[in-house]
Amino acid sequence: MLLATLSTFLLVLLSREALAVPSRERESRQALRCAVGSFMGVVSLPGVTVTIEKAVSVPERGTYSESGNLGFPQTIDLLPALCAVTVKVTNTTDSPTKPVSSYRFGMFLPMASKWNSKILTVGGASFSGGINWPDMGQGPHYGFATISTDNGHNSAGSDLSWATPARLYDWGYRALHGSVVVSKLLIAQYYGQPLTYSYYSGCSTGGRQGLREIQYDANTFDGAIIGAAAWDTLHLMPWISKIAYAQLNNNGAGKLKTDQFNILAAEVLRQCDIQDGNSDNIISQPDRCIFNISTITCPSSSPEGCITSAQAQTAMRVWSDYIVDGRVVYQGFGRSSEDQWAVYFGADSALTGFDFDYERYWTYNNTGYTWQQFTDQAVIESERINPGQATANKFDISGFRTRPGKKGGKILMYHGLADGLVSPKTSLYYYNQTISATGSTLDATRSWFRYFEVPGMQHCFFSNRYNAPWDFGAPGQASALRLLPTLGVGLPAVGDGWGVPGHLNDSNYDALLALTEWVEKDKPVDRIIATAFNADFSVYRTRPICPYPQIAVYDSGNINNAASWHCGSG
Ligand SMILES: *[C@@H]1O[C@H](CO)[C@@H](O)[C@H](O)[C@H]1NC(C)=O
Ligand SMILES: *[C@@H]1O[C@H](CO)[C@@H](O)[C@H](O)[C@H]1NC(C)=O
Ligand SMILES: *[C@@H]1O[C@H](CO)[C@@H](O)[C@H](O)[C@H]1NC(C)=O
Ligand SMILES: *[C@@H]1O[C@H](CO)[C@@H](O)[C@H](O)[C@H]1NC(C)=O
Ligand SMILES: *[C@@H]1O[C@H](CO)[C@@H](O)[C@H](O)[C@H]1NC(C)=O
Repeated sequence: MLLATLSTFLLVLLSREALAVPSRERESRQALRCAVGSFMGVVSLPGVTVTIEKAVSVPERGTYSESGNLGFPQTIDLLPALCAVTVKVTNTTDSPTKPVSSYRFGMFLPMASKWNSKILTVGGASFSGGINWPDMGQGPHYGFATISTDNGHNSAGSDLSWATPARLYDWGYRALHGSVVVSKLLIAQYYGQPLTYSYYSGCSTGGRQGLREIQYDANTFDGAIIGAAAWDTLHLMPWISKIAYAQLNNNGAGKLKTDQFNILAAEVLRQCDIQDGNSDNIISQPDRCIFNISTITCPSSSPEGCITSAQAQTAMRVWSDYIVDGRVVYQGFGRSSEDQWAVYFGADSALTGFDFDYERYWTYNNTGYTWQQFTDQAVIESERINPGQATANKFDISGFRTRPGKKGGKILMYHGLADGLVSPKTSLYYYNQTISATGSTLDATRSWFRYFEVPGMQHCFFSNRYNAPWDFGAPGQASALRLLPTLGVGLPAVGDGWGVPGHLNDSNYDALLALTEWVEKDKPVDRIIATAFNADFSVYRTRPICPYPQIAVYDSGNINNAASWHCGSG
């Protein structure tokens, strides 16, 4: 309230001052005030109400956070000087077919002299509500006006209990779409210049949002980085419940204990590493590994250093596809994902990460739902309901590939092969489906949509046991390094808040820059060099990641140096 009064006062002052200066100068001066008034009255769209909540100047090397933000409470630091703006939107256009839409979004607007005339939209994570300020921190360093939506609610990532039909549609696609529509108008007005290019960068749920938007409106983005996309919500969630059920069923006879993920991961590494031809502590082709689980299976019911046959069956289930009525409804996790299984299977005594909340709140909307009630019917129900129309399964994006009167859009998609939260096989499946739905071939698709597998990388970032190269300037990676202290593992913050430490602003190492060169200079992304760090965050090794179907092929020389590798056929 006080803020609004103050900003009205400033606006009055501003317009009075404005009378005295010539109009061009007036526009630029007025446009660059980091104040609520600079953004008021800019957007006039039928059915849409825009409220500018806040505009705050952040100094060079400053920090930003938003108190009360449950999804993204962390403080991001090392920001360049910018204006941080918070906007609230309600949109009644869908009514009465769908409930009224309501969401907020944030913008980081660099100084006019640093603005690259482009907008970057950053995705969210998991089921979080809240503006993803931490991941937005990367964009302004390159000069992007950077935005992200709160997805229409405020919650932690593991919380699914917020679901109402309105919020599900907002989380599903409405909040992201509307946030970009409104922010494009606000940004052009603020700088007094039209935008040149629009980019997207998101991992996990962020990957889903990007694909969903590309399917919804081919003109929102010119280029998108799509990481480890949780695009298939309606199958991913029942799959998580299915493997959790396998753990809990039969009085937990097959439940893997936390230290047994370690036994599995170590044995998978021992058997699989060499099978890809390079004994380098990285499982580069998990699918090609022939794995014998008997080597760690022992008969006793309370084994030391091994697992029981019931536990072995659980592990085999997690690595297998989920088949319902003869259909593969979700591709299982790959070998090398085992270290991340603890996220869904929880502590030894607890239920799983999401605790069947998808069925409880989204599918059946019955707070009394217990895990014992789970059956494969949950998949059929999920397909029927398709909560929030969030699932990005309209694979024919030929409208994005070829846009009338405009250059076609570009997609750079990637997935870590050691991901134990979203199966990398679902990204390959998505790629395959796009090729067939657009009536195309793999070769032709590579001219506008490329998919990179990242051996040894876990979900979106980090590699732990394998210490495989994982940092290539992808969504959330720079902020993950800045936010290390918040993970409680006693590590200090590292990096510069953007790019890859030691390789700032170099498109050979930076997926976002590589994408801009593909879009703006028609330079296809033939490879990106990924980096792994030592404990002190000096460089441990580098290696190219390659567009599918190519893989990194070792030539000769230092195996830990990207120069010793090329992208070729395996
Ligand atoms: C579930 O039921 C509650 C209580 O009736 C309702 O408020 C909520 O909107 C429902 N959620 C969904 C996703 O339909
Ligand atoms: C409002 O909703 C309509 C219908 O869903 C959509 O086309 C439009 O882009 C939305 N606008 C904003 C700003 O949210
Ligand atoms: C798998 O491992 C078991 C136990 O070490 C061994 O007896 C068996 O021969 C192995 N199977 C194959 C196919 O190598
Ligand atoms: C994708 O297509 C390739 C080539 O046709 C095939 O080898 C692979 O099994 C497919 N994978 C999935 C998950 O659809
Ligand atoms: C990055 O490189 C570009 C092109 O060489 C240059 O224009 C820009 O100022 C650089 N940005 C930073 C922050 O170093």
